[in-house]
Amino acid sequence: MEKLNVTPWEVSGELNDNAYSKLVERFGVDLINDNLLSRIKKIANGKLHPLLSRNVFFAHRELNLVLDDYENGKPFYLYTGRGPSGKMHIGHLLPFTFTLWLQKTFNVDLLIQLTDDEKFLVGSREKSEIEKFTNDNILDIISLGFDPKKTHIIADYKSAKTLYYYATDVAKHITVSTIKAVFGVNDSDNIGKLFFPSMQITPAFLLSALRGKNMRCLIPYAIDQDPYFRVARDVLPKLGYYKPSAIISKFLPSLQGNSAKMSSSKEESAIFLEDSKEQVRKKLMKYAFSGGRDTLEEQRKYGANPDIDFAFLEYSFLEEDQGKVDKVYQEYKSGKILSGEMKEIAAEKISSFLESLKTKKEKMKDKVEEYMFNPEKIKLSN
Ligand code: TRP
Repeated sequence: MEKLNVTPWEVSGELNDNAYSKLVERFGVDLINDNLLSRIKKIANGKLHPLLSRNVFFAHRELNLVLDDYENGKPFYLYTGRGPSGKMHIGHLLPFTFTLWLQKTFNVDLLIQLTDDEKFLVGSREKSEIEKFTNDNILDIISLGFDPKKTHIIADYKSAKTLYYYATDVAKHITVSTIKAVFGVNDSDNIGKLFFPSMQITPAFLLSALRGKNMRCLIPYAIDQDPYFRVARDVLPKLGYYKPSAIISKFLPSLQGNSAKMSSSKEESAIFLEDSKEQVRKKLMKYAFSGGRDTLEEQRKYGANPDIDFAFLEYSFLEEDQGKVDKVYQEYKSGKILSGEMKEIAAEKISSFLESLKTKKEKMKDKVEEYMFNPEKIKLSN
């Protein structure tokens, strides 16, 4: 079997439950336990975001310290990001729905980084192409409804002046051998890859630096991003800041199964945000990895396995009414709901989510500037 290798720039090997346990151990992160979940639930008035209740966000680092600060009335902030390497599909956007939920629940500032420089240095895209994706991805993200007063989008090339200034502080504390070991960089790689991690680490203390007061930073990310923040936890105390805390997800399921990341390279490989209702339905019917049985008879008799079923999973990530999700789960598992019906239910949910996003996106077109990172604005809003 292919060796399990997970870094921000390469993911290989099969990602099953066992693989996640290995990564948890290898990376030294903690699992989110019931105690943490109930603390969050209490703060969120008894509700949990589906990605949390369904254990997609499953691990953390010092999340408890962030909750302590929150409960003691001390401010903290959120930081997350995206590499703008293509159009966004639903698997890319879902983690942002979770971050939005966190922002609303805790009413805190949020930095969102778009690493256009990273996508230029790693991979073979033209800058002009990356810039197009950056602008389009920003629009998709803000259409979810982030608070413009508290949300600051860092597009690396555009925000480079401020970012670079602080990134050099980070770079000064990282050796070449650390980057080689943690990121799998080797001697024939371009030198940009050695420096770039400083750019992704910087937002983990940037708000504290600009405001001149120390705040904890909580970073939601998929587990392949852990190398950045492992290094960040080493470096930030040396600069006088807190180690960043993390809330870490598994990869979201892909349309065609195989428990890998939903890939954006092929049209039929994912559900894109711009897909029409009919396209969503068709893709689900034609390609969605199913937890159902081979024949109708077997399915009625033995039921499906919802836990590996793309349609069920997507539905469950978008439906906030936990009661409804539980009911569908039971009925699908028992054979009462069939695979085709499950796909119809999911198609309905996904396309109504996408429709409302499209409407909002149109209105957001001239609001983008309000969201863009501005160091002066950040200092003033202190
Ligand atoms: N490197 C990430 C990617 O390629 C983007 C990113 C930047 C990010 N900062 C982040 C992701 C913070 C999660 C958290 O997708």
